[in-house]
Amino acid sequence: MCGITAYKGKGDASFVVMEALKKLEYRGYDSWGIASLGAEGIIETVKNVGKISSHTETGLRQSSVAIGHTRWATHGGVSERNTHPHFDCGNEIAVIHNGIIENFDELRRELGGRGHEFRSETDTEVIAHLIEEFSSLGLKEAVRKAMERVKGRSAVIAIKKGYDGFVAARTGSPLIVGIGENEYFVSSDIPAFLDHTKNVMYLDDDEMVVVEKKPVFYSLKSGGLVEKRLITIDWSADQAEKGEFEHFMIKEIMEQKDTILRAINQNDSEIQKIANEINSSFGTFFTGCGTAGKVCFTGQYIFSKIANKHVNYVNSSEFPNYEHFLRPETLLITVSQSGETADVLEAVKTAKKKGVKIISLVNVKGSTLDRQSDHTFLINAGPEKAVASTKATTAQLAILYLLAYATTGKIHEGKNLLLETASKVNDMLNPRYLARIEELAKIICKKSDIYIIGRGLNYPMALESAIKVQEVSYIHGHGFAGGELKHGPLALIEKGTPCIVLTAKDDVFPQIIGNAMEVKARGGYIIGIGPEKHGVFDYWIKTPDVREASPIVNIIPVQLLAYYLGVLRGCEIDYPRNLAKSVTVQ
Ligand code: AGP
Repeated sequence: MCGITAYKGKGDASFVVMEALKKLEYRGYDSWGIASLGAEGIIETVKNVGKISSHTETGLRQSSVAIGHTRWATHGGVSERNTHPHFDCGNEIAVIHNGIIENFDELRRELGGRGHEFRSETDTEVIAHLIEEFSSLGLKEAVRKAMERVKGRSAVIAIKKGYDGFVAARTGSPLIVGIGENEYFVSSDIPAFLDHTKNVMYLDDDEMVVVEKKPVFYSLKSGGLVEKRLITIDWSADQAEKGEFEHFMIKEIMEQKDTILRAINQNDSEIQKIANEINSSFGTFFTGCGTAGKVCFTGQYIFSKIANKHVNYVNSSEFPNYEHFLRPETLLITVSQSGETADVLEAVKTAKKKGVKIISLVNVKGSTLDRQSDHTFLINAGPEKAVASTKATTAQLAILYLLAYATTGKIHEGKNLLLETASKVNDMLNPRYLARIEELAKIICKKSDIYIIGRGLNYPMALESAIKVQEVSYIHGHGFAGGELKHGPLALIEKGTPCIVLTAKDDVFPQIIGNAMEVKARGGYIIGIGPEKHGVFDYWIKTPDVREASPIVNIIPVQLLAYYLGVLRGCEIDYPRNLAKSVTVQ
């Protein structure tokens, strides 16, 4: 997690870096810091605890080179002392870092034994001291040698007193180089420099870039030159802004009027090809984390319902435990908005060791997952900035439907269902609908627990609903399979406890209504979501009847409810406490 960025060019470097950090704030927002190379080659620094968004000046003098960091704390609490950049003993080398150094205890003891003095509790600081030890070799070689000693996934940027440039290295966490006109950027994510350039080059693992005059890429292992491909990004800077909306989350929820349509605008023959591979594979696994994981879990039901086919959902962090079931004929389908989630990348590594083919559903073109996959379906949702995933979720679901229909040879039937769904989502997201959900949020915003139940296709969405409620409103949300309630959780229901019931016009409707009645009989306040009103509901939010595609339309009112609950409770909507958008640590 954490966002890191660096700039060299004609602009006021520390100001450019400050603005870039504001765009990276979704990655971490505990504290931020900038170091710039002043006119005499001296390093100047500013560090602050808290968010960067309200700052308009860095207080640093104009310069052409600067590096900056916005932190999501891992090693060491949130304090100015632990805020990046971190320095060597002589304050001549400044380092920013995103990732985790697994052998940091050992390195810290070793460096301490050689007289290095540590001023923070972070793992990052060992890198500055390691670079110091090799500094007679020049910054490039010193960084390379230092990174040889460091274990774990990281991205590092370093500057040195008197050196007119910077050096960046990647061993697992994302780093992208932006190529402007006589100005260069390095950053954890593209929106940091989208205002300046859309031309990018991706650093792969175990590579480094030296930016003196223009970027030159090297292998971290051999030190030899590496050729990189220039890629032009088709996102606009506006897409990554809030525009008329108060928060990215509500903007992104509303964008679902278009994003489902954009997602299904795939090359049919590619969809058919992968569907055929699913049909002939020795087992297909779906994997992802958090919300993307719940999309995969829904995929298991989608394939069962539509294609009468068993696929396996495994949460990415657990995927290595399934290694024994993998064969070269197995298929792994990964789902990830960012394409940078560490657990997903680890799952890919596990699968590749067994010769498994990797197919991915990714939003960020050129992300690590995109580049490591044998085939990628870009979900085309545009930049998703709010930590809470919304539009990426429904876009990912839409593509899974297409694949499932294609395995039965009925891709056009699938497309028609999704076209109908997209048009009904467009109708649904009107001001009256939003007001009705806001009214519900007012009724339940003081509650401490919300339970969500579903059955069949809507069971995984009950789990996803809980994630939305938790991360946006900080209310304890908990999702269950409707049938599981009476095996324990029913004991939690008290008078007035809200219970959201996800329904569809399907064969499990009578059973889920039965479960709602069980909750109501214990005093629960029943919120029905679905196409059909029922007497058991205390509050009903209508969703269109789109048959098998009900998970797509049912999750949207829950996204809205979580949003309004968060607003009413004064939560940081786009940047929930303790979380980050891309989880690049395991
Ligand atoms: C979504 O609301 C969550 N913030 C989180 O669970 C997210 O879906 C997860 O971290 C996976 O991210 P990815 O899609 O970028 O891989």
